[in-house]
Amino acid sequence: MKVIITKDYESMSEKAYEEVRAVIAENPAAVLGLATGTTPLGLYRRMADDCGRGGISYKKIRTVNLDEYAGLGADSDQSYVYFMRKNLFDHLDILPENTFIANGKAEDLEAECARYNALLEGMRQDIQVLGIGSNGHIAFNEPGTPFSSTVHVVDLAESTIRDNARLFAREEDVPRKAITMGLKNIMRAKKILILANGANKARAVCGLVKGEVTEAVPASVLQLHPDCTLICDRDAAAMI
Ligand code: GLP
Repeated sequence: MKVIITKDYESMSEKAYEEVRAVIAENPAAVLGLATGTTPLGLYRRMADDCGRGGISYKKIRTVNLDEYAGLGADSDQSYVYFMRKNLFDHLDILPENTFIANGKAEDLEAECARYNALLEGMRQDIQVLGIGSNGHIAFNEPGTPFSSTVHVVDLAESTIRDNARLFAREEDVPRKAITMGLKNIMRAKKILILANGANKARAVCGLVKGEVTEAVPASVLQLHPDCTLICDRDAAAMI
């Protein structure tokens, strides 16, 4: 794994943007795997700003998102589909029909997992952007998820519910289930870019980079990927 340590969040985001821009420059019809959370917001702002200034075009780009809360859809401002539109897609010249995310409001969640999995099989990510949970999760693959997992419904860990509660009015409002890409779907990406900032990620980053490769720390599977880059700030790198 290539590791880049930056002085702060803004330089982490700038480096991440350089990586994404290079992928699109090489293939203007690339498939971008995207993540939610606060970590990639600086990257998304740079993508939006550059496209708005007439820079990179996303007209031929397709995107696939990692995950979505069960029960939430575009009409909820806590959903990941809403997050992606507000923070990125609405500011790009991307075609809405080229942005894919699991439907958290599907009546049959298992059928939705099968549908999304089939879609991913036909759309290998040229680059997959990831954040990391403080317990070492990637997407919503909580500790103990098999490395062989594909798209599935997950019961969120208590620590994830607590971490994500800051984005909801009350902790009780955080959905207890989500649909997530599995670790196998993530590992299929040609290139992986994982971002981390802040001291609360230091332990997870340590497990990601130098811990044992174990299903107890889902991010550790990335040590097995042939083209994975971690970009993190000094605080998140404190234990590596
Ligand atoms: C959620 C998302 C993950 C994300 C994580 C960290 O659990 N499902 O994809 O990496 O939060 O979020 P943040 O970037 O806000 O710390």
